[in-house]
Amino acid sequence: MNLLVTAGPTREPLDPVRYLTNRSSGKMGYALASAGIQLGHRVTLISGPTSLNVPVNVDYVPVETAQQMFEATRTHLARADAAIFSAAVADYRPASFAENKIKKAEARLTIDLVRNPDILGSVRREFSFEGVLVGFAAETENLEENARGKLEDKSCDFVVANLVSQCGIGFDSDHNEALLVYPDRSEILPMQTKGDLAHLIVQAVQEAINRRG
Ligand code: CTP
Repeated sequence: MNLLVTAGPTREPLDPVRYLTNRSSGKMGYALASAGIQLGHRVTLISGPTSLNVPVNVDYVPVETAQQMFEATRTHLARADAAIFSAAVADYRPASFAENKIKKAEARLTIDLVRNPDILGSVRREFSFEGVLVGFAAETENLEENARGKLEDKSCDFVVANLVSQCGIGFDSDHNEALLVYPDRSEILPMQTKGDLAHLIVQAVQEAINRRG
């Protein structure tokens, strides 16, 4: 299959020397891209800035901002059979970019933010994608309930849900555990390396394709 993976954080510029971002390392997305290649698939990896090596044989599409990731996804989704959205996309960006470095002045500074496009949420509605669609849900509470909400809102085949409040797993860790949330059931994937977890997720994508016939 042709598999598209989004990965990493996005970076939202504020002025020439500053940006807003988040703690995503990109490890899970890069592990998914590697697993896709190892399992014999063609992989396009659309990634925000990370310090990771790009897996061999992956079609790599580097981006910085959520808007760039949105456009790259629209372009590359056209030839994908399945797409996994593991990127930690910034939900908001600074309303304007200051051409010059913002100088300190008052004791308080308010930064105005505007919503970024919801990339995963646009896949069915705006891009009319009909392939297998997998979202991620990073939650600090009510894991299954929140993930099920995202599954339904964004018309995913399944959602990979992580509790991000636990120490030693999740962001920047080499290990993670996950709950795969399907429309009719859930499946626990116990704590393991992100590489092993990625293999199971790509296999679950393959099974979802097979079920569609
Ligand atoms: N996502 C996306 N575009 C965004 C925000 C999120 O494509 N602008 C994708 C992520 O890659 C992930 C899924 O949506 O697959 C859920 O991301 P998450 O941050 O957990 O949830 P949100 O939909 O942003 O909802 P909230 O922040 O309210 O929990």
